[in-house]
Amino acid sequence: MAGSKAYYVTTPIYYVNDAPHIGHAYTTTAGDALTRWHRQRGAAVWFLTGTDEHGTKVARTAAEHSVAPQQWADRLVAEAWRPALGTIDAANDDFIRTTEPRHVIGVQRFWEQVRANGALYQGVYEGPYCVGCEEFKLPGDVIEGSGEQAGALICPLHGRPVELLREENWFFRLSAYAEELLAHYRRHPDAVAPRSAYNEVVAFIERGLTDISMSRSAVQWGVPLPWQPEQVVYVWFDALLNYITAIGYAAEPGSPQAQRFATTWPADVHLVGKDILRFHAVYWPAMLLAAGLPLPRQVFAHGWLLVSGEKMSKSRLTGIAPSLIVDHVGSDAFRYYFLSAIRFGSDGSFSWEDLTARYTAELANGLGNLLSRAVAMVDRYCAGEVPAAGPQSTADIALAALAQATVGRADAAIDELDFAGAIGHIRDLVDATNLYLTEEQPWVLARAPEQRERLHSVLATACEVLRIVAVLYHPVMPHATERMWHALGATTLGPLAEQRIDETGRWGQLPVGARVVRGEPLFPRLADPDPPEAETAGMP
Ligand code: ME8
Ligand code: MG
Repeated sequence: MAGSKAYYVTTPIYYVNDAPHIGHAYTTTAGDALTRWHRQRGAAVWFLTGTDEHGTKVARTAAEHSVAPQQWADRLVAEAWRPALGTIDAANDDFIRTTEPRHVIGVQRFWEQVRANGALYQGVYEGPYCVGCEEFKLPGDVIEGSGEQAGALICPLHGRPVELLREENWFFRLSAYAEELLAHYRRHPDAVAPRSAYNEVVAFIERGLTDISMSRSAVQWGVPLPWQPEQVVYVWFDALLNYITAIGYAAEPGSPQAQRFATTWPADVHLVGKDILRFHAVYWPAMLLAAGLPLPRQVFAHGWLLVSGEKMSKSRLTGIAPSLIVDHVGSDAFRYYFLSAIRFGSDGSFSWEDLTARYTAELANGLGNLLSRAVAMVDRYCAGEVPAAGPQSTADIALAALAQATVGRADAAIDELDFAGAIGHIRDLVDATNLYLTEEQPWVLARAPEQRERLHSVLATACEVLRIVAVLYHPVMPHATERMWHALGATTLGPLAEQRIDETGRWGQLPVGARVVRGEPLFPRLADPDPPEAETAGMP
């Protein structure tokens, strides 16, 4: 694939002020399913995630634990953030930390360039700052406190008073890019999605942009300005650059890393929560314009996982650790649940009841049952070998047509990042196949020798649909589908991850004589129907 542009997907880099909760795992799961799907389309893909380690929030947390910020970050990354990727089976290509030299060098190079282009000047910043958001707040961003917080200005996201800052620092000429940004978004209405996020961004820019402080003189934990090392780069204007520093922005010309930058930038999708939309869809593209770099193709702002109607958050200590859910239902069901139960782009509330109900109905009784029925009958009636189909009945033709249509429907939904839609189409196919078996009654056919050919057609049809289902579900449920692949005797077709989406609709690929393997249920009944005790994420 040398020379061709990689499909490049990023997650936010997460603050290491605490351990991950399911909100972080949600974004990463979406990025992982999306990139696995594109790999199965045959594309070159690059999937990046990582950690945001500088700034006041991390420095204060480290101080509260009486350790140096670097030590704190090292510990959180090693003990919490990297392991969380394994917990949810994320197959990221790289992991960037903002304390790595490749990033620090890139940040300094970038701002030198922007300064040389005339987009920075010195000034005095005076105004409110939310350490939770690490954000200089605009007048409309804060609310008047009430009760115990009367008289204070409050950040509505963190529910805590903002701090009033007065610092001499460097300003980025954000206002100069408003027109160009608006023109860009009018030309590219998909550059921010979903539509509600696009409208919010355009309205924000239309109200006019004010220049923004890009350095901090009262903070030490950050990347020093190369031309004035007593100040550090404002943490967001350090963090956003991870998307280019990780893929070789500042690499030695001619090196493999520099080559990667040439074939990877611009990003195809920056996946973010809607809390950080403005940074990604206003400040970030303005920074890129100032440096003369191409803009990302899309920023997709998904919704929030809510707890009691509010955003689940590290700062509010309302996070649920991903491992708590994965230990209960497995990583496949975790991924399936969050991608299918909440429409990507909308808010949603997690509940153990909803998870358990969907697990049982859709995975155990739906997909798992279909596989075990089909495999058990091939084992019993056909000596464990997938039989040859005879002439197709109307029902066979209809099911094959649905299976083929499902491939295109799911693919189109993934193009829109509509994971719930894609999964819904595949689930419809599973349900239709379970119904098909119920109606065709192969166990009755098996009793009549003259129905032998018909029996074979029904079982071959069901197994062929299951082949397609395994391929389509692989990006969502990597482990369960590997087990399906093995159970169907499909390994002779090659590794599951190498099955191409665009070819999987071709009917009749599972070979006659493929040896099925009976095994443990794909989705065993949940041992304890009662969910584990509520418990928050966080470092012990
Ligand atoms: O904002 N629901 O890091 P962060 C859904 N370091 N997604 C959630 C969520 C929730 N309740 N809570 C968190 C930062 N997320 C910066 C980003 S990028 C250059 C720098 C997810 O640790 C979601 O993706 O606060 C959200 O945008 C992100 O975690 C914020 O993580
Ligand atoms: Mg946050």
